[in-house]
Amino acid sequence: MTDVEGLKKDAGIAACSYVSSGMKVGLGTGSTVKHTVIELGRMIAEEGLEIVGVPTSLATEKLALEVGIPLVKLSDIDGLDVVIDGADEYDPQFQLIKGGGAALLREKIVAQESSGMVVVADDRKRVEKLGAFPLPIEITPFAHQATIRVLGRTLNCRVNCRMAGDNPVITDNGNMIADAHCGPTIQDPIGMEKVILNIAGVVQVGLFNNMCDVVVLAGANGVETFVNPNGRLK
Ligand code: 5RP
Repeated sequence: MTDVEGLKKDAGIAACSYVSSGMKVGLGTGSTVKHTVIELGRMIAEEGLEIVGVPTSLATEKLALEVGIPLVKLSDIDGLDVVIDGADEYDPQFQLIKGGGAALLREKIVAQESSGMVVVADDRKRVEKLGAFPLPIEITPFAHQATIRVLGRTLNCRVNCRMAGDNPVITDNGNMIADAHCGPTIQDPIGMEKVILNIAGVVQVGLFNNMCDVVVLAGANGVETFVNPNGRLK
């Protein structure tokens, strides 16, 4: 296991302390939170943990079923106690860029329904200013090149259609992903989110503002927990 892989595993497992029996838990997507999902499966099998989960992608749904987490549909329940998810970047105000795994729409719907959001990450994800990681934006396949042109003009930066080989990446929702290369310049993520969501053809943007309550971060000093002073979890 590489160092980074070990850090992801440490953070993913440590975040399970935010889960207890009786909870409804949002299950994020990515290579860090994968370790959370596997650990929750172990806790169910070996420690009698009783939870239900809502996955944020088809990939997480498959993993959760493999490790024995009972799943429910978000539409059938009244909110979630907590969601645990990864992030591509987080800043000192706990604002996030997400969507590197193309799951941002379901991730944001699940986060919006959760009473708390715990982010799991290795210390490469902590930044002073968001935007070095290209900002993922889910867009409709219809006229996607036109939407990408409008995004480029509006944001004044290069915007690419995310590709898998010769074909555009298609999300679990049948949409495409545009990646905006703004650079580490995002001064006002809340304003930027509004501007992007105002463009026809945009389904959702990977700026997660005022959603993250806690970051469980693994780095050279081990696992550290950073609590958002304005958040809902302690
Ligand atoms: C998927 C995401 C992921 O949570 C994000 O990309 C972080 O993934 P990883 O833990 O693999 O670095 O937003 O859409």
